[in-house]
Amino acid sequence: MDTPASRFALPLHSAGKAASFPFSYVMSTVPRRWWRSILGGLILTCFLGYFFMPIRRRDPLLPPLYEKYHQKAIDVSKHNYHNSPSAKEAKSSSTELLSSSLGVGWGNFLQEYLLDAFIVHEAGWSNVFSNYTWNKDGQDYSVYKNKNMIPSRIPLTALVAGPLVGGEWPEGDSTPISVVKEYWDKICPEEERLFIDPRQVDDWKLGNLMASDLVARWKKRLDETPGRCVEVDREAFQTGTFWIFGNAEHLLEFWPAYSTSPILTQFRWSPLVESGFMKNYGLISSTKPAVHPYHTIPGLLALHIRRGDYREHCSNLAGGGALFNAFNSFPQFVDKFELPPNRTGELTKEVMNHYLPACLPSIQQIVTKVTEVRKTEAGKGLRNIFIMTNGARDWVTELKEALRETGGWDLISSSRDMQLDWEQKYIAQSVDMLIGERAQVFVGNGFSSLTSNVVMFRMVRGFPPESNRFWIP
Ligand SMILES: *[C@@H]1O[C@H](CO)[C@@H](O)[C@H](O)[C@H]1NC(C)=O
Ligand SMILES: *[C@@H]1O[C@H](CO)[C@@H](O)[C@H](O)[C@H]1NC(C)=O
Repeated sequence: MDTPASRFALPLHSAGKAASFPFSYVMSTVPRRWWRSILGGLILTCFLGYFFMPIRRRDPLLPPLYEKYHQKAIDVSKHNYHNSPSAKEAKSSSTELLSSSLGVGWGNFLQEYLLDAFIVHEAGWSNVFSNYTWNKDGQDYSVYKNKNMIPSRIPLTALVAGPLVGGEWPEGDSTPISVVKEYWDKICPEEERLFIDPRQVDDWKLGNLMASDLVARWKKRLDETPGRCVEVDREAFQTGTFWIFGNAEHLLEFWPAYSTSPILTQFRWSPLVESGFMKNYGLISSTKPAVHPYHTIPGLLALHIRRGDYREHCSNLAGGGALFNAFNSFPQFVDKFELPPNRTGELTKEVMNHYLPACLPSIQQIVTKVTEVRKTEAGKGLRNIFIMTNGARDWVTELKEALRETGGWDLISSSRDMQLDWEQKYIAQSVDMLIGERAQVFVGNGFSSLTSNVVMFRMVRGFPPESNRFWIP
Protein backbone atom coordinates (compact mmCIF):
# COMPACT_ATOMS: atom_id res chain seq x y z
CA MET A 1 0.00 0.00 0.00
CA ASP A 2 2.95 2.29 0.54
CA THR A 3 3.04 3.53 -3.05
CA PRO A 4 3.46 7.20 -3.92
CA ALA A 5 -0.13 7.37 -5.04
CA SER A 6 -1.50 6.13 -1.76
CA ARG A 7 0.73 8.44 0.23
CA PHE A 8 -0.47 11.37 -1.79
CA ALA A 9 -4.00 10.30 -1.23
CA LEU A 10 -3.71 10.25 2.53
CA PRO A 11 -4.04 13.96 3.37
CA LEU A 12 -6.97 14.29 1.06
CA HIS A 13 -8.98 12.34 3.58
CA SER A 14 -8.66 15.20 6.01
CA ALA A 15 -10.26 17.63 3.58
CA GLY A 16 -11.93 20.63 5.16
CA LYS A 17 -8.75 21.61 7.01
CA ALA A 18 -7.16 23.17 3.93
CA ALA A 19 -4.78 25.34 5.97
CA SER A 20 -3.14 22.41 7.63
CA PHE A 21 -2.82 20.53 4.38
CA PRO A 22 0.95 20.83 3.91
CA PHE A 23 1.69 20.16 7.55
CA SER A 24 -0.52 17.13 7.87
CA TYR A 25 0.77 15.97 4.52
CA VAL A 26 4.35 16.11 5.68
CA MET A 27 3.58 14.69 9.11
CA SER A 28 1.73 11.78 7.77
CA THR A 29 4.01 10.94 4.86
CA VAL A 30 7.44 11.01 6.50
CA PRO A 31 8.26 7.85 8.37
CA ARG A 32 8.81 8.39 12.08
CA ARG A 33 12.35 7.08 12.01
CA TRP A 34 13.42 9.92 9.68
CA TRP A 35 12.38 12.70 11.99
CA ARG A 36 15.48 12.63 14.05
CA SER A 37 17.75 13.14 10.99
CA ILE A 38 15.51 15.84 9.56
CA LEU A 39 15.46 17.78 12.81
CA GLY A 40 19.22 17.34 13.19
CA GLY A 41 19.69 18.52 9.62
CA LEU A 42 17.58 21.61 10.25
CA ILE A 43 19.51 22.53 13.36
CA LEU A 44 22.82 22.02 11.56
CA THR A 45 21.63 24.18 8.64
CA CYS A 46 20.63 27.01 10.97
CA PHE A 47 23.91 26.69 12.82
CA LEU A 48 26.05 26.77 9.67
CA GLY A 49 23.83 29.43 8.12
CA TYR A 50 24.39 31.65 11.12
CA PHE A 51 28.13 31.54 10.62
CA PHE A 52 28.33 31.61 6.87
CA MET A 53 25.54 33.96 5.86
CA PRO A 54 27.27 37.19 6.95
CA ILE A 55 30.49 35.99 5.35
CA ARG A 56 28.76 35.39 2.05
CA ARG A 57 27.33 38.87 2.19
CA ARG A 58 30.55 40.59 3.24
CA ASP A 59 33.21 38.37 1.76
CA PRO A 60 35.95 39.32 4.22
CA LEU A 61 38.28 36.97 2.39
CA LEU A 62 38.01 39.12 -0.71
CA PRO A 63 39.13 42.75 -0.92
CA PRO A 64 36.47 45.47 -0.95
CA LEU A 65 35.41 47.10 -4.22
CA TYR A 66 34.41 50.40 -2.65
CA GLU A 67 31.22 50.54 -4.70
CA LYS A 68 29.49 53.02 -2.43
CA TYR A 69 32.34 55.50 -2.96
CA HIS A 70 31.94 55.06 -6.68
CA GLN A 71 28.17 55.55 -6.51
CA LYS A 72 28.62 58.65 -4.40
CA ALA A 73 30.95 60.12 -7.03
CA ILE A 74 28.29 59.53 -9.69
CA ASP A 75 25.60 61.15 -7.51
CA VAL A 76 27.80 64.16 -6.76
CA SER A 77 28.71 64.64 -10.44
CA LYS A 78 25.06 64.46 -11.42
CA HIS A 79 24.01 66.86 -8.69
CA ASN A 80 26.73 69.38 -9.52
CA TYR A 81 26.03 69.19 -13.21
CA HIS A 82 22.34 69.89 -12.71
CA ASN A 83 22.96 72.70 -10.26
CA SER A 84 25.66 74.58 -12.09
CA PRO A 85 24.39 76.80 -14.92
CA SER A 86 27.78 76.81 -16.63
CA ALA A 87 28.30 73.06 -16.42
CA LYS A 88 26.42 72.30 -19.62
CA GLU A 89 28.79 74.42 -21.68
CA ALA A 90 31.86 73.34 -19.74
CA LYS A 91 34.63 71.71 -21.68
CA SER A 92 35.82 68.51 -20.15
CA SER A 93 38.80 66.33 -20.73
CA SER A 94 39.22 62.73 -19.79
CA THR A 95 42.85 62.20 -19.00
CA GLU A 96 42.08 58.72 -17.82
CA LEU A 97 44.77 57.27 -19.97
CA LEU A 98 47.33 59.81 -18.96
CA SER A 99 46.91 58.52 -15.45
CA SER A 100 46.22 54.89 -15.87
CA SER A 101 49.62 53.49 -16.60
CA LEU A 102 48.56 50.05 -15.50
CA GLY A 103 50.37 48.02 -12.91
CA VAL A 104 51.90 51.21 -11.61
CA GLY A 105 52.17 51.76 -7.88
CA TRP A 106 50.00 54.26 -6.08
CA GLY A 107 52.90 56.70 -5.66
CA ASN A 108 53.61 56.84 -9.40
CA PHE A 109 49.95 57.01 -10.22
CA LEU A 110 49.33 59.89 -7.83
CA GLN A 111 52.23 62.03 -9.03
CA GLU A 112 51.13 61.65 -12.63
CA TYR A 113 47.46 62.12 -11.84
CA LEU A 114 48.17 65.38 -10.00
CA LEU A 115 50.20 66.76 -12.89
CA ASP A 116 47.52 65.76 -15.40
CA ALA A 117 44.84 67.42 -13.29
CA PHE A 118 47.03 70.51 -13.12
CA ILE A 119 47.30 70.65 -16.91
CA VAL A 120 43.54 70.33 -17.37
CA HIS A 121 42.92 72.94 -14.69
CA GLU A 122 45.38 75.36 -16.32
CA ALA A 123 43.40 75.01 -19.53
CA GLY A 124 40.22 75.82 -17.62
CA TRP A 125 38.59 72.52 -18.48
CA SER A 126 36.74 70.13 -16.27
CA ASN A 127 38.82 67.09 -15.41
CA VAL A 128 37.35 63.63 -15.66
CA PHE A 129 38.37 61.31 -12.85
CA SER A 130 37.97 57.59 -12.51
CA ASN A 131 39.67 54.84 -10.57
CA TYR A 132 43.17 54.04 -9.51
CA THR A 133 43.36 51.03 -11.78
CA TRP A 134 45.94 48.36 -11.19
CA ASN A 135 44.61 45.89 -13.68
CA LYS A 136 42.16 46.43 -16.50
CA ASP A 137 41.40 42.84 -17.44
CA GLY A 138 37.82 43.22 -16.27
CA GLN A 139 38.23 41.08 -13.15
CA ASP A 140 37.32 42.66 -9.84
CA TYR A 141 40.36 41.25 -8.03
CA SER A 142 43.99 40.74 -8.90
CA VAL A 143 46.68 38.61 -7.33
CA TYR A 144 49.48 40.83 -6.13
CA LYS A 145 53.06 39.50 -6.14
CA ASN A 146 51.74 35.94 -6.47
CA LYS A 147 50.17 35.91 -3.05
CA ASN A 148 47.70 38.56 -1.89
CA MET A 149 44.39 39.42 -3.47
CA ILE A 150 43.94 43.12 -4.10
CA PRO A 151 41.10 45.09 -5.73
CA SER A 152 41.83 45.56 -9.44
CA ARG A 153 40.75 49.17 -9.07
CA ILE A 154 39.93 51.61 -6.31
CA PRO A 155 37.61 54.56 -6.95
CA LEU A 156 39.60 57.75 -6.45
CA THR A 157 36.95 59.02 -4.04
CA ALA A 158 38.01 56.27 -1.60
CA LEU A 159 41.52 57.72 -1.69
CA VAL A 160 41.34 61.47 -2.13
CA ALA A 161 38.86 64.29 -1.56
CA GLY A 162 38.38 67.88 -2.69
CA PRO A 163 38.34 69.45 -6.17
CA LEU A 164 40.32 66.57 -7.68
CA VAL A 165 37.26 64.38 -7.32
CA GLY A 166 34.38 66.77 -7.84
CA GLY A 167 34.69 69.07 -4.83
CA GLU A 168 34.36 72.85 -5.21
CA TRP A 169 37.32 74.90 -6.40
CA PRO A 170 38.32 77.77 -4.09
CA GLU A 171 36.45 81.12 -4.21
CA GLY A 172 37.07 82.98 -7.42
CA ASP A 173 38.23 79.95 -9.40
CA SER A 174 35.73 79.49 -12.20
CA THR A 175 37.08 76.17 -13.48
CA PRO A 176 34.20 73.72 -13.88
CA ILE A 177 34.24 70.98 -11.27
CA SER A 178 35.62 67.54 -12.06
CA VAL A 179 33.22 64.76 -13.02
CA VAL A 180 33.45 61.03 -12.67
CA LYS A 181 33.99 58.97 -15.82
CA GLU A 182 30.67 57.13 -15.67
CA TYR A 183 28.72 60.39 -15.56
CA TRP A 184 30.93 61.95 -18.20
CA ASP A 185 30.04 59.06 -20.53
CA LYS A 186 26.46 60.35 -20.34
CA ILE A 187 27.17 64.05 -20.92
CA CYS A 188 29.97 63.41 -23.41
CA PRO A 189 28.98 60.35 -25.42
CA GLU A 190 31.73 58.87 -27.61
CA GLU A 191 30.41 60.44 -30.84
CA GLU A 192 30.89 63.91 -29.35
CA ARG A 193 34.45 63.31 -28.24
CA LEU A 194 37.62 64.45 -29.86
CA PHE A 195 40.46 62.02 -29.35
CA ILE A 196 43.94 63.37 -28.79
CA ASP A 197 47.03 61.29 -29.24
CA PRO A 198 49.43 62.43 -26.51
CA ARG A 199 52.41 61.63 -28.67
CA GLN A 200 51.53 64.58 -30.88
CA VAL A 201 51.72 66.88 -27.88
CA ASP A 202 54.38 65.45 -25.63
CA ASP A 203 57.43 64.62 -27.68
CA TRP A 204 58.17 62.29 -24.82
CA LYS A 205 60.55 60.20 -26.83
CA LEU A 206 62.93 63.10 -26.91
CA GLY A 207 62.71 63.27 -23.14
CA ASN A 208 63.83 66.86 -23.25
CA LEU A 209 60.70 68.76 -22.40
CA MET A 210 60.60 71.09 -19.43
CA ALA A 211 57.50 70.63 -17.30
CA SER A 212 56.35 74.17 -18.08
CA ASP A 213 56.72 73.49 -21.83
CA LEU A 214 54.71 70.32 -21.47
CA VAL A 215 51.95 72.16 -19.65
CA ALA A 216 51.99 74.98 -22.21
CA ARG A 217 51.73 72.52 -25.10
CA TRP A 218 48.77 70.74 -23.57
CA LYS A 219 47.06 74.02 -22.72
CA LYS A 220 47.50 75.20 -26.31
CA ARG A 221 46.22 71.90 -27.65
CA LEU A 222 43.12 72.11 -25.46
CA ASP A 223 42.58 75.82 -26.23
CA GLU A 224 42.56 75.03 -29.94
CA THR A 225 40.15 72.16 -29.56
CA PRO A 226 36.77 73.08 -31.02
CA GLY A 227 34.66 70.51 -29.20
CA ARG A 228 33.43 70.27 -25.68
CA CYS A 229 34.69 66.78 -24.91
CA VAL A 230 38.23 65.49 -25.23
CA GLU A 231 39.59 62.08 -24.54
CA VAL A 232 43.26 61.28 -24.53
CA ASP A 233 43.68 58.43 -26.96
CA ARG A 234 43.29 55.01 -25.41
CA GLU A 235 45.89 53.47 -27.66
CA ALA A 236 48.69 55.82 -26.77
CA PHE A 237 49.94 54.17 -23.67
CA GLN A 238 52.53 56.28 -21.93
CA THR A 239 52.74 60.04 -21.90
CA GLY A 240 55.58 62.40 -21.29
CA THR A 241 54.80 63.26 -17.75
CA PHE A 242 56.21 60.06 -16.35
CA TRP A 243 59.72 60.87 -17.54
CA ILE A 244 59.64 64.32 -16.13
CA PHE A 245 59.35 63.06 -12.55
CA GLY A 246 62.81 61.56 -12.76
CA ASN A 247 64.43 64.80 -13.80
CA ALA A 248 64.67 67.59 -11.24
CA GLU A 249 65.94 70.05 -13.83
CA HIS A 250 62.85 69.51 -15.97
CA LEU A 251 60.37 69.57 -13.14
CA LEU A 252 61.43 71.97 -10.44
CA GLU A 253 61.56 75.08 -12.61
CA PHE A 254 57.79 75.09 -12.66
CA TRP A 255 57.45 74.53 -8.91
CA PRO A 256 56.31 78.12 -8.15
CA ALA A 257 53.27 77.65 -10.43
CA TYR A 258 52.58 74.07 -9.43
CA SER A 259 52.97 74.46 -5.68
CA THR A 260 50.49 77.34 -5.52
CA SER A 261 47.83 75.74 -7.72
CA PRO A 262 44.66 74.50 -6.02
CA ILE A 263 45.53 71.00 -7.27
CA LEU A 264 48.15 70.87 -4.53
CA THR A 265 46.99 73.49 -2.03
CA GLN A 266 43.46 72.03 -1.84
CA PHE A 267 44.62 68.44 -1.83
CA ARG A 268 43.01 66.40 0.88
CA TRP A 269 42.87 62.70 1.65
CA SER A 270 39.53 60.90 1.62
CA PRO A 271 37.46 60.52 4.80
CA LEU A 272 38.44 56.82 4.71
CA VAL A 273 42.16 57.64 4.81
CA GLU A 274 41.63 60.28 7.48
CA SER A 275 39.62 57.85 9.61
CA GLY A 276 42.45 55.29 9.36
CA PHE A 277 44.84 58.03 10.47
CA MET A 278 42.71 59.06 13.46
CA LYS A 279 42.09 55.47 14.49
CA ASN A 280 45.84 54.82 14.77
CA TYR A 281 46.78 58.12 16.25
CA GLY A 282 47.74 56.56 19.58
CA LEU A 283 50.63 54.80 17.83
CA ILE A 284 52.39 58.00 16.86
CA SER A 285 51.64 60.62 19.48
CA SER A 286 50.20 61.08 22.93
CA THR A 287 48.46 64.34 22.01
CA LYS A 288 45.43 64.41 19.75
CA PRO A 289 45.49 66.68 16.69
CA ALA A 290 42.71 67.98 14.49
CA VAL A 291 42.34 65.73 11.47
CA HIS A 292 42.49 68.70 9.08
CA PRO A 293 44.31 70.96 8.16
CA TYR A 294 47.39 68.77 8.12
CA HIS A 295 49.56 70.60 10.63
CA THR A 296 52.84 69.26 12.00
CA ILE A 297 52.69 66.54 14.63
CA PRO A 298 55.39 67.79 17.00
CA GLY A 299 57.93 65.25 18.21
CA LEU A 300 57.20 62.75 15.43
CA LEU A 301 59.93 61.30 13.24
CA ALA A 302 58.59 59.32 10.25
CA LEU A 303 60.90 56.95 8.38
CA HIS A 304 60.00 55.56 4.97
CA ILE A 305 61.90 52.34 4.42
CA ARG A 306 61.25 50.21 1.36
CA ARG A 307 62.15 46.54 1.56
CA GLY A 308 60.87 43.46 -0.25
CA ASP A 309 60.73 44.19 -3.97
CA TYR A 310 63.23 47.00 -3.48
CA ARG A 311 66.06 44.53 -3.20
CA GLU A 312 65.76 43.83 -6.90
CA HIS A 313 64.60 47.33 -7.72
CA CYS A 314 67.76 48.84 -6.20
CA SER A 315 70.04 46.89 -8.51
CA ASN A 316 67.91 47.99 -11.46
CA LEU A 317 68.27 51.58 -10.31
CA ALA A 318 72.01 51.14 -9.88
CA GLY A 319 72.33 49.47 -13.28
CA GLY A 320 70.36 52.26 -14.94
CA GLY A 321 72.30 55.03 -13.22
CA ALA A 322 69.13 56.42 -11.60
CA LEU A 323 68.99 59.69 -9.75
CA PHE A 324 66.58 60.64 -6.96
CA ASN A 325 63.02 61.46 -8.00
CA ALA A 326 62.66 65.09 -8.97
CA PHE A 327 60.65 66.09 -5.90
CA ASN A 328 63.31 64.50 -3.69
CA SER A 329 65.92 66.75 -5.25
CA PHE A 330 65.04 70.29 -4.20
CA PRO A 331 68.29 72.27 -4.08
CA GLN A 332 67.48 73.30 -0.48
CA PHE A 333 67.64 69.71 0.76
CA VAL A 334 70.46 68.59 3.03
CA ASP A 335 70.79 65.06 1.62
CA LYS A 336 71.79 64.92 -2.03
CA PHE A 337 72.43 61.86 -4.10
CA GLU A 338 75.41 61.94 -6.45
CA LEU A 339 76.08 59.40 -9.17
CA PRO A 340 79.01 57.08 -8.46
CA PRO A 341 82.36 58.44 -9.65
CA ASN A 342 83.99 57.14 -12.82
CA ARG A 343 80.86 55.47 -14.15
CA THR A 344 81.30 53.01 -16.96
CA GLY A 345 77.68 51.85 -17.07
CA GLU A 346 78.70 48.51 -15.67
CA LEU A 347 76.96 47.22 -12.54
CA THR A 348 80.05 46.65 -10.43
CA LYS A 349 80.25 45.94 -6.72
CA GLU A 350 81.38 49.55 -6.18
CA VAL A 351 78.30 50.86 -7.95
CA MET A 352 76.02 48.63 -5.86
CA ASN A 353 77.75 49.75 -2.68
CA HIS A 354 77.17 53.32 -3.73
CA TYR A 355 73.43 52.79 -4.26
CA LEU A 356 72.53 50.39 -1.46
CA PRO A 357 72.79 52.70 1.57
CA ALA A 358 70.50 55.22 -0.18
CA CYS A 359 68.13 52.63 -1.55
CA LEU A 360 68.10 49.75 0.92
CA PRO A 361 69.70 51.03 4.14
CA SER A 362 70.72 48.45 6.74
CA ILE A 363 69.49 48.63 10.34
CA GLN A 364 72.86 50.04 11.37
CA GLN A 365 72.71 52.72 8.66
CA ILE A 366 69.16 53.65 9.70
CA VAL A 367 70.13 53.96 13.35
CA THR A 368 73.14 56.11 12.44
CA LYS A 369 70.97 58.41 10.32
CA VAL A 370 68.32 58.76 13.03
CA THR A 371 71.00 59.60 15.58
CA GLU A 372 72.39 62.26 13.25
CA VAL A 373 68.96 63.74 12.54
CA ARG A 374 68.18 64.07 16.27
CA LYS A 375 71.20 66.31 16.66
CA THR A 376 69.98 68.81 14.05
CA GLU A 377 67.88 71.91 14.67
CA ALA A 378 64.93 70.38 12.75
CA GLY A 379 65.21 67.23 14.88
CA LYS A 380 64.94 68.98 18.27
CA GLY A 381 62.37 67.38 20.57
CA LEU A 382 61.77 64.23 18.54
CA ARG A 383 60.13 61.69 20.86
CA ASN A 384 58.18 59.23 18.71
CA ILE A 385 59.03 57.22 15.62
CA PHE A 386 56.74 55.86 12.95
CA ILE A 387 58.26 53.46 10.41
CA MET A 388 56.48 53.41 7.05
CA THR A 389 57.55 50.11 5.57
CA ASN A 390 56.70 47.00 3.61
CA GLY A 391 59.46 45.16 5.48
CA ALA A 392 58.94 41.71 7.01
CA ARG A 393 57.66 41.70 10.59
CA ASP A 394 60.83 40.17 12.06
CA TRP A 395 63.02 42.70 10.36
CA VAL A 396 60.82 45.55 11.58
CA THR A 397 60.93 44.19 15.15
CA GLU A 398 64.71 44.06 14.99
CA LEU A 399 64.85 47.62 13.65
CA LYS A 400 62.53 48.89 16.38
CA GLU A 401 64.72 47.28 19.04
CA ALA A 402 67.84 48.81 17.57
CA LEU A 403 66.19 52.25 17.54
CA ARG A 404 64.88 51.84 21.08
CA GLU A 405 68.41 51.08 22.30
CA THR A 406 69.52 54.57 21.28
CA GLY A 407 67.31 55.80 24.15
CA GLY A 408 64.92 58.67 24.74
CA TRP A 409 61.99 57.46 22.63
CA ASP A 410 58.40 57.22 23.86
CA LEU A 411 56.58 55.49 21.02
CA ILE A 412 58.10 53.46 18.22
CA SER A 413 55.60 51.92 15.82
CA SER A 414 55.35 50.88 12.19
CA SER A 415 52.93 50.22 9.35
CA ARG A 416 52.79 46.67 10.70
CA ASP A 417 51.16 47.85 13.95
CA MET A 418 48.28 49.69 12.32
CA GLN A 419 44.74 48.67 13.15
CA LEU A 420 42.82 49.02 9.91
CA ASP A 421 39.39 47.84 8.95
CA TRP A 422 38.51 45.91 5.82
CA GLU A 423 38.23 49.00 3.61
CA GLN A 424 41.21 50.84 5.13
CA LYS A 425 43.53 47.88 4.69
CA TYR A 426 43.91 48.29 0.92
CA ILE A 427 44.57 52.02 1.12
CA ALA A 428 47.02 51.71 4.03
CA GLN A 429 49.82 53.33 2.02
CA SER A 430 47.84 56.56 1.97
CA VAL A 431 47.35 56.45 5.74
CA ASP A 432 51.13 56.05 6.03
CA MET A 433 51.61 58.97 3.67
CA LEU A 434 49.40 61.25 5.73
CA ILE A 435 51.48 60.41 8.81
CA GLY A 436 54.70 61.13 6.90
CA GLU A 437 53.28 64.41 5.60
CA ARG A 438 52.65 65.62 9.13
CA ALA A 439 55.77 64.38 10.91
CA GLN A 440 58.15 66.96 12.38
CA VAL A 441 60.96 65.27 10.45
CA PHE A 442 60.58 62.83 7.58
CA VAL A 443 63.37 60.57 6.33
CA GLY A 444 62.47 58.94 3.03
CA ASN A 445 63.78 56.88 0.17
CA GLY A 446 64.91 59.29 -2.55
CA PHE A 447 64.13 56.80 -5.32
CA SER A 448 60.57 56.24 -4.18
CA SER A 449 57.61 58.09 -5.65
CA LEU A 450 55.70 57.55 -2.41
CA THR A 451 58.45 59.44 -0.59
CA SER A 452 58.48 62.14 -3.27
CA ASN A 453 54.74 62.73 -2.93
CA VAL A 454 55.10 63.05 0.84
CA VAL A 455 57.99 65.47 0.40
CA MET A 456 56.11 67.43 -2.25
CA PHE A 457 53.14 67.99 0.05
CA ARG A 458 55.44 68.95 2.90
CA MET A 459 57.02 71.57 0.63
CA VAL A 460 53.60 72.84 -0.48
CA ARG A 461 52.55 73.23 3.15
CA GLY A 462 55.67 75.11 4.14
CA PHE A 463 57.52 72.51 6.23
CA PRO A 464 61.19 73.51 6.56
CA PRO A 465 63.30 71.97 3.76
CA GLU A 466 65.73 70.65 6.44
CA SER A 467 62.89 68.52 7.84
CA ASN A 468 62.95 66.38 4.67
CA ARG A 469 65.81 63.92 4.81
CA PHE A 470 66.92 60.89 2.80
CA TRP A 471 68.95 57.75 3.37
CA ILE A 472 72.27 59.26 2.48
CA PRO A 473 75.05 58.18 4.83
C1 LIG B 1 35.56 52.09 -11.33
O1 LIG B 1 35.40 51.26 -10.20
C2 LIG B 1 34.04 50.95 -9.91
C3 LIG B 1 34.02 50.19 -8.59
O2 LIG B 1 34.82 49.05 -8.64
C4 LIG B 1 33.44 50.19 -11.07
O3 LIG B 1 32.10 49.90 -10.80
C5 LIG B 1 33.58 51.02 -12.35
O4 LIG B 1 33.12 50.30 -13.46
C6 LIG B 1 35.01 51.44 -12.58
N1 LIG B 1 35.09 52.37 -13.70
C7 LIG B 1 35.97 52.25 -14.69
C8 LIG B 1 35.92 53.28 -15.76
O5 LIG B 1 36.79 51.34 -14.71
C1 LIG C 1 88.30 58.12 -11.01
O1 LIG C 1 89.21 58.32 -12.04
C2 LIG C 1 90.25 59.25 -11.74
C3 LIG C 1 91.07 59.50 -12.99
O2 LIG C 1 91.20 58.33 -13.76
C4 LIG C 1 91.10 58.71 -10.58
O3 LIG C 1 92.11 59.62 -10.26
C5 LIG C 1 90.18 58.49 -9.40
O4 LIG C 1 90.89 57.89 -8.34
C6 LIG C 1 89.01 57.61 -9.76
N1 LIG C 1 88.09 57.57 -8.64
C7 LIG C 1 87.59 56.46 -8.16
C8 LIG C 1 86.68 56.60 -6.99
O5 LIG C 1 87.83 55.37 -8.61
